Amino acid sequence: MKRKLKNILVTGGAGFIGSNFIHYIFDKTDFSGKIVNVDKLTYAGNLENLVEIDDKYGRERYFFEKADICDFGEIKKIFKKYDIDTVVNFAAESHVDRSIFGPKDFVQSNIMGTFTLLEVARENWKGRKDILFHHISTDEVYGSIEEGDYFYENTAYKPNSPYSASKASSDHLVRAYHKTYSLPATISNCSNNYGPYQFPEKLIPLMILNILEEKNLPVYGDGRNVRDWLYVEDHCSAVWEILNKSEAGETYNVGGENEWENIKLVNFLCEKIAKVKGKNEDYYKRLISFVKDRPGHDRRYAINCHKIKRELKWKQQYNFEDGLDLTIKWYMNHQDWVDRVTSGKYRQWMKKNYKMR
Ligand code: NAD
Ligand code: TYD
Repeated sequence: MKRKLKNILVTGGAGFIGSNFIHYIFDKTDFSGKIVNVDKLTYAGNLENLVEIDDKYGRERYFFEKADICDFGEIKKIFKKYDIDTVVNFAAESHVDRSIFGPKDFVQSNIMGTFTLLEVARENWKGRKDILFHHISTDEVYGSIEEGDYFYENTAYKPNSPYSASKASSDHLVRAYHKTYSLPATISNCSNNYGPYQFPEKLIPLMILNILEEKNLPVYGDGRNVRDWLYVEDHCSAVWEILNKSEAGETYNVGGENEWENIKLVNFLCEKIAKVKGKNEDYYKRLISFVKDRPGHDRRYAINCHKIKRELKWKQQYNFEDGLDLTIKWYMNHQDWVDRVTSGKYRQWMKKNYKMR
């Protein structure tokens, strides 16, 4: 099925994956309609990520509206103003550690925000079939999995952190709106992303920057937790395939088929950056320190993404080495971006909550 997408509402478009997705649509697809980016601009939202897009397409094909997805009135106005026919819901609080220190914002934005968007869509689209609500979720909803096993689309949800519990809850609401109100909706559950514009609280950008600044490299617990890493543009292309070709009501797992133990990954980053800097790799590896584990820390995530490969003909385009090289280079060339996003609110929060580092 080839859907006609005209006016796409991207929520959380100023964040890491959302801004990469907007770049992807304008730079790498033949989409000729409008993109409306709705973002509350939390500490993780940064309009600087979209300056080139705004310069080139602003007020003709790209529009930004600063709004909270929990605000029914505002979202309703935006729906009407732009005659929205497609929603891609990226907006969320996204960092597990923050959800442990303060779960309330996660319940509010991730659950109530998704609920509010669904309500506006239900009211506005009333029985239409030529529209789609696509919800972006995570593999973390499935919980932790043993070596040798994989998450499938029908694996039972077993979230362990306030973040994953809030995402699981929002996924269930999306599913229920499809079943109960026949709202055309789809969900994708993706593994860990990395790439440009990722806020440097997540493992890969944090480690790259700490290595470059020769700071401590804090590895949680024994460092043997496993994550499946996917280059962000590959996630964007998967979402694009889903928007264009999926059947309503379907769920797709998206992953890198690229499992790494954290400690091996941190060592690998030290080796890569040592090469770039012409230093001995041990010079950076000595910065590694094992710190107190994250409470409820999931041991392993591993995605089976055969369904989207088979049904929508999607596949990853970036191997891990190339993706990491691009990412390291991007952070080395964007020190100004890093300085700006890590100042102000973020620094205050780090000071308050991360004394142990
Ligand atoms: P991010 O934290 O970088 O960006 C989130 C964006 O949402 C920010 O721009 C923020 O300002 C905005 N936002 C937050 N609450 C809002 C609200 N109430 N109203 C409007 N805007 C709001 O997150 P990300 O890493 O880009 O993740 C995007 C989505 O992808 C999330 O739903 C996340 O759960 C999911 N996801 C992320 C990963 C990953 O590895 N980063 C993997 C799988 C799924
Ligand atoms: P993160 O990037 O926060 O993603 P998630 O928790 O959503 O998977 O963390 C990835 C892995 O790296 C996770 O197992 C926790 C670990 N980690 C560290 O060991 N040290 C760190 O400083 C961070 C941020 C994460």
